[in-house]
Amino acid sequence: MPLGVLTSGGDAPGMNAAVRAVVRVAADRGHHVLGVERGYQGLIDGRLHSLTRETESTSSGLAPTREVELSANLGGSFLGTARCMAFYEAEGRARAAEVLNGQLDGLVVIGGNGSLTGAHALCEEHGCKIIGIPASIDHDIGCTNTSIGVDSALNTIVEACDRISDTARSHRRAFVVEVMGRQSGYLCMAGAVAAGADAALFGELGRSEEQIVNDVAELIRRSFAEDRDKQRVLILKAEGVEVPCTKLVREVTEKLGDSLGDVSIRATVLGHLVRGGSPSFADRMVANRFGHIAVRALLEGKTDLMTGWQSPVPGGEETVDHGVRLFGIGQVLEETAALLDGSSPVTQGRVALMEKAAGVLAL
Ligand code: F6P
Repeated sequence: MPLGVLTSGGDAPGMNAAVRAVVRVAADRGHHVLGVERGYQGLIDGRLHSLTRETESTSSGLAPTREVELSANLGGSFLGTARCMAFYEAEGRARAAEVLNGQLDGLVVIGGNGSLTGAHALCEEHGCKIIGIPASIDHDIGCTNTSIGVDSALNTIVEACDRISDTARSHRRAFVVEVMGRQSGYLCMAGAVAAGADAALFGELGRSEEQIVNDVAELIRRSFAEDRDKQRVLILKAEGVEVPCTKLVREVTEKLGDSLGDVSIRATVLGHLVRGGSPSFADRMVANRFGHIAVRALLEGKTDLMTGWQSPVPGGEETVDHGVRLFGIGQVLEETAALLDGSSPVTQGRVALMEKAAGVLAL
């Protein structure tokens, strides 16, 4: 039977490159690959189509289809992706397992936290053969130092902040720029450092709305003091900080009142802009290397594992690629929960480093 591949959850730049790697490696070893459309929902509905074609021009007699080759360097997911509600029900998972076990020799799941949780459930409940590849711009997946999409998203954030800084300096303005990341403040922290922002507001700091308003107001007041030749203030705010950007700007403006003088404050929510665009070098590189190892693992009969990039936690199985190790998805999900509730040393290290940078990044 062929192997299968799907993308699930929020799309991330580099997913298509991972799919191509999976198809190339499998085809090279003589295995057909079926692409599952729109994530787990496509598995439940049995929507699968071939990503390999027969040819006399390769030693295995198989090659990726044109669709696979043409999409590989594009953002988004050409297979389509979805957050599948039916998968939260045992019945939905049973139907998906029936299709998987009946039509495929194994499946590569490319996605984030929710997608890996689904993969683990299929392995445990129905003995499915699945290898996961971490893909999410949020950088909130355990056992790996990066996930597909993180680097591209950060490049987009930095570019957007540079553009906003051009207009901010021209008008002597302060901007609060919100970036995605769900519960994870990583994009905000890393983006703020790389964009040369004045401050970063992320949920992991646990500040109240009142504190945030006071701190932002004080930063803007000091920054635009007359004896300081400062033209722009840039504050990055993580999506996970509950106060909406426009409300924050309104409250800070009210607090500063007349002392703002001719300075004004604006809000920009980057939103889904950050998730699109062609994948960076780094994302294409990890996507290809994850795809390679994922297929090898499936063909060796392994299951319920995820590829991790130069992992921040010890352990995992070594692979033929020195940068990629294989971790049990159960362990990955535990590490992910710890990353998100702040108990992981990785999260604590990030927050501590940002706190040490206070003064450079003022909040
Ligand atoms: O998980 C990726 C992500 O982009 C988060 O950063 C964001 O909170 C969420 O997905 C948005 O989801 P949707 O595209 O379903 O609105």
